[in-house]
Amino acid sequence: MPVCRDIATLRDTLRGGEGAIGLVPTMGNLHEGHLALVRACRQACDVTVVSIFVNPTQFGPSEDFGNYPRTLDDDLRYLREARVDHVFAPAVDDMYPQGRDGQVTVSLPALANTLCGASRPGHFDGVATVVAKLFNIVAPDKSFFGEKDWQQLTLIRAMARQLDMRVEVVGVPTVRESSGLALSSRNIYLSDDERRRAATLNRVLTWIKTAVEEGCRDYSSAEERGSRDLAEAGFDVDYVAVRDAERLCPPDAETASLRILAAARLGRARLIDNVGATI
Ligand code: PAF
Repeated sequence: MPVCRDIATLRDTLRGGEGAIGLVPTMGNLHEGHLALVRACRQACDVTVVSIFVNPTQFGPSEDFGNYPRTLDDDLRYLREARVDHVFAPAVDDMYPQGRDGQVTVSLPALANTLCGASRPGHFDGVATVVAKLFNIVAPDKSFFGEKDWQQLTLIRAMARQLDMRVEVVGVPTVRESSGLALSSRNIYLSDDERRRAATLNRVLTWIKTAVEEGCRDYSSAEERGSRDLAEAGFDVDYVAVRDAERLCPPDAETASLRILAAARLGRARLIDNVGATI
């Protein structure tokens, strides 16, 4: 499994190859959620490329860029076992030779400033910029993203569509522990007690989903009760929101299906999760 550490080498390695190329962008510290993306990619494509890059431009100044778990040796072992064809693990200087301030960036529409974007200014522009660069470097036919980051998936789909990128963006369902807790690299920040309480996040979302599917249309009250339940379980709540699944706006007459999303801090970990609901 070739591991390419710079853009030129990856391009040379992929040049002239045949068949559909699939890309799984990651920031490493791989878990079963990432491996589900790899499996989906291998099933749909002839060549699977996994990128491992902790992208500085999507972290705010007070966020965990410095401490973000970097576990390249373990990651490479998992990817070899998962029979990945190529790994792309570039250095920051290779991806951003102009530095952060000199970098041309993708600027997303207002949707990027709501939900997670409201408390993480610039985060989604940083994500979109690195993903656009990865799309240009790898030129994949398909690229795979977890549904756990639903707002990210929605924005990357919008970017690919509106900037006429020829890649198909594929969403892969969230992988969960048996408690319902969505797998995430940031779960390592949870103590044992917090890990037990963290399962409340998915329980609250599932409760709202059931209420909505049983006819509740008072979304604000459902959001408020969800926030209260999370606060009682010790979370510092960022948001609990019932949204149109595609446009992520509050539900309106055109809404065909809903997504119920939440973000909340538990100790050092900022956890996010979402579930779909039919109406
Ligand atoms: O979801 C992630 O891990 C990151 O945001 C991504 C898509 C790899 C971009 O850095």
